[in-house]
Amino acid sequence: MDFPFAESYKIKTVEPVYRSTREQREQWIKEAHYNLFNLRSNQVFIDLLTDSGTGAMSAQQWAAIMNGDESYAGASSYYKLKKVVEEILGFPFFLPVHQGRAAENVLFSALVKEGDIIPGNAHFDTTKGHIEFRKAVAIDCTIDEAYDTSVSHPFKGNIDIGRLENVILRYGKEKIPFIILTLTCNTVGGQPVSIENIRLVKKLAGQYGIPLLVDAARFAENAWFIREREEGFRNRSVREIVAEMLSYADMFTMSCKKDGLVNIGGLIGMRSKEVFDKASVYNIMFEGFLTYGGMAGRDMEALAEGLEEVVDEQYLESRIRQVEFLGKKLDEFGVPVLKPFGGHAVFVDALAFLPLVPREQYVAQTLAVELYREGGIRSAEIGTLMADRDPVTRENRYPRVEYVRLAIPRRVYTDNHMLYTAVALARIFERRNFIRTGYSIVKEQPILRHFTVHLKPVG
Ligand code: F0G
Repeated sequence: MDFPFAESYKIKTVEPVYRSTREQREQWIKEAHYNLFNLRSNQVFIDLLTDSGTGAMSAQQWAAIMNGDESYAGASSYYKLKKVVEEILGFPFFLPVHQGRAAENVLFSALVKEGDIIPGNAHFDTTKGHIEFRKAVAIDCTIDEAYDTSVSHPFKGNIDIGRLENVILRYGKEKIPFIILTLTCNTVGGQPVSIENIRLVKKLAGQYGIPLLVDAARFAENAWFIREREEGFRNRSVREIVAEMLSYADMFTMSCKKDGLVNIGGLIGMRSKEVFDKASVYNIMFEGFLTYGGMAGRDMEALAEGLEEVVDEQYLESRIRQVEFLGKKLDEFGVPVLKPFGGHAVFVDALAFLPLVPREQYVAQTLAVELYREGGIRSAEIGTLMADRDPVTRENRYPRVEYVRLAIPRRVYTDNHMLYTAVALARIFERRNFIRTGYSIVKEQPILRHFTVHLKPVG
């Protein structure tokens, strides 16, 4: 008999989660203006809104917190983190910030100006927000397969090299302060980028003298997929693959709330002293002094430990397998999901799930609200609401695919929570043909509207 898979950790501390009735949830979601961000956490049974900052820390991380050195300047916790950034990520210069978008704010303040063009694989929403806020333009050069839910491709996060070169030729290298590679690519479904693709992007960038910026939020999950799926990497350690992946980057930004295995924190890594000096000014203005930025000493201690733990293959196997467990169950139940499954989340194809709801009534949001009603499960809309309006025409930007993202916090839920989630979606799927209307917007902000939007049911 084959062994079933078992996690590489056991549970020391537990936290209660609350079940509710359908009537309670109907009331709560109405009060929340049909925006899942407005729910209180105790109104949610299983929270799959995000894998960001929601993970469980290890006993070693909690122990490290007691060693936090809270000195304003030159804290030993900073030097501990510096050593880990050098050893694991391979960067000589870094700045600590409070989270990923702070890294974008600081670095882009130093490097991005009005009219600039920033190509990459699909940009994350805060990344795009920080580009467009500076009146620059983000251009998505992801391969076409990424947007075709019917094809399976091992590296759907890859950049289409021809498309990238066309952007460089069309706008000129002077207009491009850097190219961004997001590893894994959240916006297209937590899909990885291959080493081969990173090498090709680096080569092209090098030919035109354009720096390469890696968004390393989920760097370890990306490395795991390279080990699993890319020819020639089976016998390499995740640590080695991480080192190679990041060796091609001139800079990185990182939300440490994902693969840093911490609840708050971010990093900017740089090879150029000149860029470091420029960014340092903004770091001091927006975040804090260079040796703590946006983090307390104890946060830096927990992060230094988290970066060591996340490259452990047994941990990564547990992590990726749990996401896969949920994906496989949904697939078994006939629910349309993006394949291959992502590293941090399973993405439900909302357009295939609810074909009768009109596009302009926010199909993915309709499904996300329905999932909350059905099972008290909170998910995230990755669709038209998140895509915002075109900055010039102010029309809705309809993405090619609309997803409901089920993001799995790290080391938090059990497989039974995953099964419960799959059953809730299967139950909605059975009655999908009765869901024919969605929502309209009552109130919205000009940028990043999905966080605060107010909606009302159509009809
Ligand atoms: N880059 C990527 C690829 C991300 O997924 C995120 C955050 C950020 C940057 C910004 O980092 O939240 O620390 O400021 N993603 C979260 C999510 C919010 O739910 O996917 P942050």
